[in-house]
Amino acid sequence: MNDLALSNLAHEDRTFDPPGDLAARANVSAEVYAEADADPEAFWGRQAERLDWGTPFTRVLDWSKAPFAKWFVGGRLNAAYNCVDRHVENGLGDKVALHFVGEPGDTRAITYSQLKDEVSQAANALIDLGVKAGDRVAIYLPMIPEAVIAMLACARLGAPHTVVFGGFSADALSSRILDCDAKVVITADGGYRRGKASALKPAVDEALQACPGVVSVLVVRRTGEDVAWTGGRDVWWHDVVTSASTTHVPQLFDSEHPLYVMYTSGTTGAPKGILHTTGGYLVQAAYTFWATFDHKPDSDVYWCTADVGWVTGHSYIVYGPLAEGATQVLYEGTPDTPHKGRWWEIIAEYGVTLFYTAPTAIRTCMKWGEQIPAEHDLSSLRVLGSVGESINPEAYVWYRENIGGGKTPIVDTWWQTETGAHMITPLPGVTSGKPGSAMTAFPGISVEVVDDAGEPVGNGEGGYLVITEPWPSMLRTIWGDDERYKETYWSRWPDYYFAGDGAKKDDDGAIWLLGRVDDVMNVSGHRLSTTEIESALVSHPSVAEAAVVGAADDTTGQAVVAFVILRESAKDVEDVSADLRAHVAKEIGPIAKPRQVMVVPELPKTRSGKIMRRLLRDVAENREVGDATTLADSSVMALITAGIVDAKNDED
Ligand code: PRX
Repeated sequence: MNDLALSNLAHEDRTFDPPGDLAARANVSAEVYAEADADPEAFWGRQAERLDWGTPFTRVLDWSKAPFAKWFVGGRLNAAYNCVDRHVENGLGDKVALHFVGEPGDTRAITYSQLKDEVSQAANALIDLGVKAGDRVAIYLPMIPEAVIAMLACARLGAPHTVVFGGFSADALSSRILDCDAKVVITADGGYRRGKASALKPAVDEALQACPGVVSVLVVRRTGEDVAWTGGRDVWWHDVVTSASTTHVPQLFDSEHPLYVMYTSGTTGAPKGILHTTGGYLVQAAYTFWATFDHKPDSDVYWCTADVGWVTGHSYIVYGPLAEGATQVLYEGTPDTPHKGRWWEIIAEYGVTLFYTAPTAIRTCMKWGEQIPAEHDLSSLRVLGSVGESINPEAYVWYRENIGGGKTPIVDTWWQTETGAHMITPLPGVTSGKPGSAMTAFPGISVEVVDDAGEPVGNGEGGYLVITEPWPSMLRTIWGDDERYKETYWSRWPDYYFAGDGAKKDDDGAIWLLGRVDDVMNVSGHRLSTTEIESALVSHPSVAEAAVVGAADDTTGQAVVAFVILRESAKDVEDVSADLRAHVAKEIGPIAKPRQVMVVPELPKTRSGKIMRRLLRDVAENREVGDATTLADSSVMALITAGIVDAKNDED
């Protein structure tokens, strides 16, 4: 288990109760837990009424073919209609849906009625490009309104989108396009990052050399930089979307119609395409948004700092908030461009009331100092959210004091790409918050912490986090691989979904997440697979063998540390570590770049050849190396630590 998280338990034992005024007017009250427990299916059936169903569902859940679920059986709906059109029909056309803030300072307010027109135009343009219901569309865009519009246009047509984070490389993009066989790619010339234009189109051009199935590329002009152009394939957004009709009648799709595929890292080399479908996903995204953030549509301004390229951007920028008719900020850039107070300036300017970010960002702001947020009026904030990893108590308390004025509840939301929406979180008007704990399962969600035998552990004990009942926004399968879905999530304990996380119940039964128990790392709240980075490393001509571990890092939570054995031919290559770091960035993306590459003579392996990452983690974290008795060759660790002294000196 993660020692950092365990030791946190001792550091902060304050509990923060919900503020009285918030509790008095909260969207949900304490009774909700008992109501949901009494009959979870009926509970979710009631929450489904938040949406507009063209054809009502006849049954809430069909679990007869477990673990393949069907939620809201027989129901038909259109996700984009629910996120956009119905608000216009309800008289909210002039309400701002998106306050876009570009990094260079350009801004644009988009009302729900403008959003409806632009989504309809994009849908009509996609139809002209040959997109039909069921076709896959890849989206590779910066954080600009067109990203949201493109996703909703696909949803409107029943064409599942796969959004690829703009920080991923051409190779990562092409492997995702190929895996889901996307027909169209939507991209931009580039976006703005850290004060400069950062190109995207060249990566698409490179990726598509390996993707003959892509027939069209729709390109948004954002930066105005020159781009290479493939005639007959590439079309400008401002040519084909802006001139398209603003009228498009949305069709109804089955509740189980695929909505999107989101790739995420697992324990093997190839990323998994997590499939989410329409009805159940939208119900849970919408309801959790409303309940967890206590969203009041008439007065709240919400801002989630995630990128649309991750699941948080899908559920809590696009589908949840828009289904609930929220007004939100969409910011293109980094928190420190052009200065380190940019986020707080935006909060003050737009009167943001609900703010959702990641612990790694909070720790970075802590390092910059509390005088920076103190220069801005943050008094509008009333609920703060956290996602991506456990928020360490120090960061929790700093966030609450310096951003939340010592009064705002913090909702530490545990969930995953696979779960689609919040699963464990406090409710801000109901649940007390303990810094470092995600507290309790969301109403209607059943989780347990179990031991190796699958038996629940008692309070005060740790084990594995499992989800014991199906939930509406659960993944339906891994795209194209039902077997891998069963094997990955439902085989360790056949009746439970195993999340891959360790957890502990404290003496009151509150849940503390303790990090991954598998070979998945969490760097800045992003999931990276050790195996994926190892394969990238061994694809380099200098490398014979590689092992990657996640080592504790003050800012990013974990950092990638690589141990490599060089090929004989590479022994004299200068600065091999810099070469390898650049190589991983090229193969996967800059987020996967190792913090350190250590050249070692051997790797610690068991007799069956499995690399003992636990021992390498000890080395990477400068700890005394643990029990090495199961190693095939017990002298290896001494060799490695001796070798590393040299490598570390090189790094310095
Ligand atoms: O280990 C958990 C961690 O992030 C993993 C899911 O990563 P991903 O699918 O990329 O989704 C991230 C955004 C939902 C989980 O298995 N994690 C996420 N949120 C928390 C967390 N760990 C502790 N506390 C959290 N609040």
